[in-house]
Amino acid sequence: MTPSPATTPPSSGADGALTSADEELLAAAREVLPRAICPYSNFPVGAAVRTERGKVFAGVNVESASYGLTLCAERAALAAAVAATGEGKIVAVAVVTKTAEPVTPCGACRQLLAEWGADMRVVMAGAEGEPWVTTMDVLLPHPFLVLPDEDPLS
Ligand code: THU
Repeated sequence: MTPSPATTPPSSGADGALTSADEELLAAAREVLPRAICPYSNFPVGAAVRTERGKVFAGVNVESASYGLTLCAERAALAAAVAATGEGKIVAVAVVTKTAEPVTPCGACRQLLAEWGADMRVVMAGAEGEPWVTTMDVLLPHPFLVLPDEDPLS
């Protein structure tokens, strides 16, 4: 048995139209795409996140000889933003690949991104056609969330 990929775009939680801020985020993700370290999958991914004050931080996938340790581009971009700024919120993420159609963030990245807000805008672009736009709540409707004041052991 092998998994079979879905190629249907997610339903749009956003209004579907690309904004200039989306274009800027996609451009940042595209710019770093050639720096992806992906000798094992040969599948480069570029990502960029935008903070609520409009700062943009990019990341690429970084693969490991121990395959499972691979860092996805989205999480790399998120970590770059967190390290660089004390700003509270990540409001949008862009994901760029060389595939004809866009790809959606993997499950692990969805969980991490969703913790920053269900309304986070997600813009995805492949090499051809129109980018897809949606929001995190569409990609991950029920993320695992434990508030800091909730003691999981009590
Ligand atoms: N990858 C990402 O960077 N982001 C995703 O959301 C899905 C997958 C990377 C991991 C690996 O280096 C390559 O794409 C193939 O799975």
